[in-house]
Amino acid sequence: MEVFTLLEIDTRYAIENATDEAALEAARIGALGKNGWLTNALKSLGSMSPDERKIQSPIVNALKERITAEIAAKKADLGDKALDARLNTETVDVTLPVREAPAEMGRVHPISQVIDELTAIFADMGFAVAEGPDIETDDYNFTKLNFPEGHPAREMHDTFYFNPKPDGSRMLLRTHTSPVQVRTMLTQKPPIRVIIPGRTYRSDSDQTHTPMFHQVEGLVIDKGSHLGHLKWILEEFCKAFFEVDAVKMRFRPSFFPFTEPSLEVDIQCRRDKGEIRFGEGEDWLEILGCGMVHPNVLRNCGLDPNEYQGFAWGMGIDRIAMLKYGMPDLRPFFEADVRWLSHYSFRPLDFPTLAGGLSA
Ligand code: DAH
Repeated sequence: MEVFTLLEIDTRYAIENATDEAALEAARIGALGKNGWLTNALKSLGSMSPDERKIQSPIVNALKERITAEIAAKKADLGDKALDARLNTETVDVTLPVREAPAEMGRVHPISQVIDELTAIFADMGFAVAEGPDIETDDYNFTKLNFPEGHPAREMHDTFYFNPKPDGSRMLLRTHTSPVQVRTMLTQKPPIRVIIPGRTYRSDSDQTHTPMFHQVEGLVIDKGSHLGHLKWILEEFCKAFFEVDAVKMRFRPSFFPFTEPSLEVDIQCRRDKGEIRFGEGEDWLEILGCGMVHPNVLRNCGLDPNEYQGFAWGMGIDRIAMLKYGMPDLRPFFEADVRWLSHYSFRPLDFPTLAGGLSA
């Protein structure tokens, strides 16, 4: 009895003074754990004589009830306190502005946006998208496109070459998307109608040139394709891309080894205080090169020039992006400056579509 009284006092003291659930649990284990004093007392009832048990059993069981009730009460008390403390610290200020989710903050780079826009326009006219590698052979980048060895047009491309291979040939970073014309003609049977957007490289850098830039090539090969088709396609493209009802275009004679005749295309515009407007004004702005695919190129790609003919064009994507969205300098396109990006980039879920508006 004496012993139980002291143990009970001890245990109740520990329960009362427990400041958290761990301390309370320690007090419970001391009394009612596997080896707790009260558990042992309950166990010892079994080995008592019936008379002795009759006396001791109510005492020990009452003790157990008291302590169990005390622990439960303290537990509830601690729980309430913990909840109160959490509620006090975890306040939500509903007047604060909502922070944008990461998916909302991401932006689409203007080049990706413009590639999506022009793909939507040409897809609507029935063009498929073709792609090729950035690292090309000299053969596909130049020779098969009718650039003879040593021809000055090769030098004009400021090519980045890789070290020569043991056989003397050199890979290069493609200087234009035109080698994918070759790849397409070698693998597809006409009629061919593809556009080829992609990265291109030349050793050149100033306000309107970066060593890596983007082009979109177009290629149409069929039996009766002619310059009239090309003109219509380019006009329709420019109207849709610049989102104007009319554009005036000027086709000037030019030279490319892989086309005959070759043309350069300007669009009419008005420059006013750093702003450019299309479909009006007195200025002309060059936007692309084009022409009828040279019979030598068709032949080099296994097509008979007496059976097939076609046209092609190559346009600077960065150039038309700058014109449409009014960026004065090309270099920041590739500097990954978040301030520039957040100003000029596009919201990821605003897909350009012809129905929904390209730059909506
Ligand atoms: N590849 C030419 C360049 O980068 C552009 C070009 C001109 C592509 C005429 C063509 C074309 O397909 O027909 O300067």
